[in-house]
Amino acid sequence: MFHQALKAAARDVQAVFDTILAGYDDQPVTRAMRYAVTGGKGLRGFLVLETAALCGVARQSALPAAAAVEAIHAYSLVHDDLPAMDDDDLRRGRPTVHVKWDEATAILVGDALQALAFELLSDPVIGPAEVRLALVSSLARAAGAQGMVLGQALDIAAETAGRDLTLEEITRLQANKTGALIGWSGQAGAVMAGADTGPLADYARALGLAFQIADDILDVEGCAETAGKRLRKDADAGKATFVSLLGMSGAKARAQALVDEAEAALAPFGDRAAVLRAAARFVIERDK
Ligand code: IPE
Ligand code: IPE
Ligand code: MG
Ligand code: MG
Ligand code: MG
Repeated sequence: MFHQALKAAARDVQAVFDTILAGYDDQPVTRAMRYAVTGGKGLRGFLVLETAALCGVARQSALPAAAAVEAIHAYSLVHDDLPAMDDDDLRRGRPTVHVKWDEATAILVGDALQALAFELLSDPVIGPAEVRLALVSSLARAAGAQGMVLGQALDIAAETAGRDLTLEEITRLQANKTGALIGWSGQAGAVMAGADTGPLADYARALGLAFQIADDILDVEGCAETAGKRLRKDADAGKATFVSLLGMSGAKARAQALVDEAEAALAPFGDRAAVLRAAARFVIERDK
């Protein structure tokens, strides 16, 4: 059930991009945008669609919001892979955007995807103007220098810090780098429905942290072919991760505890949240 729902979400979000980008000029930058939004797991879009369903929001209304967060996420990956950042040549099993095109194109693809995200959130199909404004301002915050960008900046700074980060510092880094966008996605349904965001915020916060711990574990234990990206890079690059601080078994225990926390936060929804519970288990069991 979960895997089907994840696939369906990725397919429906892809259709949003296909429709919009079909109207764009046929330029390298637009071809590279299309490339960059394709081939991911689509977890963030899935969270938007599933929390929307849980809160009684129509799928059609939630789709532009799901595409918006996937656009921000895709931009963050294109920039994350640049030589000045993680310098990676493989993403989603294919050459990264700056390798297939060039660095200028990759920078512009990120810029354009970020703008597209907010254009998507202004779509009236989502709902009343107040709802769209709440989504716009919360996504801007989650993506910017109080969210994902802050996490990326801390991640890069840690490489040359000359000392190990504390558990508190790593948690803050990860909560921003990965947690902010996942957190936004996990609350989006409640925001669209005008419902209490509390339980979903707790769920998404634990899920986001577990997700990044799993990514750090994958870097050590995963298979590059399956993961679709280069692995065993974090330690050499001096990245601050839960694995570097807690060791492998400590990191796994922490990730499992967070999944338990995420599942517990869904208690108020009972069986209706089964697919979101399965998503929490998936984030630490995944091999890509
Ligand atoms: C990878 O995110 C980058 C991190 C935030 C750890 P995903 O693992 O969700 O990447 P895709 O979208 O499925 O490729
Ligand atoms: C990337 O984290 C997080 C963002 C793009 C915001 P990583 O650098 O760990 O992601 P991967 O391992 O390259 O996918
Ligand atoms: Mg990185
Ligand atoms: Mg990276
Ligand atoms: Mg990583």
